Amino acid sequence: MSEDYFGGRVAARYDESSAEMFEPAVVEPVVDFLAELAGDGAALELGIGTGRIALPLAQRGIRVHGIDLSEAMVAKLREKPGAEQIGVTIGDFATTTVEGRFSVAYLVFNTINNLTTQDEQVACFENVAAHLDPGGCFVIEVGVPGLRRLPPGETFHVFDFSESHLGVDEYDVVNQGLVSHHFSLSDGKWERLSVPFRYVWPAELDLMARLAGMTLRERWSGWKREPFASESTKHVSVWEKPARRPRG
Ligand SMILES: C[S@@+](CC[C@H](N)C(=O)[O-])C[C@H]1O[C@@H](n2cnc3c(N)ncnc32)[C@H](O)[C@@H]1O
Repeated sequence: MSEDYFGGRVAARYDESSAEMFEPAVVEPVVDFLAELAGDGAALELGIGTGRIALPLAQRGIRVHGIDLSEAMVAKLREKPGAEQIGVTIGDFATTTVEGRFSVAYLVFNTINNLTTQDEQVACFENVAAHLDPGGCFVIEVGVPGLRRLPPGETFHVFDFSESHLGVDEYDVVNQGLVSHHFSLSDGKWERLSVPFRYVWPAELDLMARLAGMTLRERWSGWKREPFASESTKHVSVWEKPARRPRG
């Protein structure tokens, strides 16, 4: 089972520290995209967190269920208006099963990288495929691995440097590993949080989808269906479970 890196203190500050990700200009295109795929069906969010996407999606009238490891993140979700419409199962989204079938499952904001082994990422695709309706879709939003930023022989990349936050990614190219180190100034004291990830290439995700019986349907560089190209720093990908064939 994956470790919980979103415990009390992280959860308490999550919305504030990710404030730009809660901006309507960021959230609305995500919700538009997912609502269209959900259609009349239900949506499953892996790593639902404090409900940044699930709450506005549920407000569109879509049934949303979430899975998350962190009781503390889900407790934050539960404090918000509209949370009573959303069911949440505490568990690891690579393996946890929930009741019902879904027309869309989604895993946003780089959260596939929280699964730190290839086996866990493969298991996640298999778990999603088992929860989807025939013809249902799995959507992932994740960064393209930033290895082109690393000069030969270097392993550290500074991704943020401000008065109150220093963010440094540490790459382990042998194991496709990445540790994001955050040094944050809080109440006059510097605090350190180091979170391990496994970075993953788009083609590897396509292969994981294929292992789980799904095929790539769309790949964009953003939620407004911007083209995915050589300089894109992230992608929004959609894999589809085959529709049931009519008998006969
Ligand atoms: C970056 S937050 C994203 C939360 C939310 N999806 C959002 O977009 O704001 C990642 C969330 O995934 C959860 N998480 C990470 N790894 C997990 C796992 N293996 N199983 C279940 N939840 C996990 C964390 O507890 C956290 O709530």
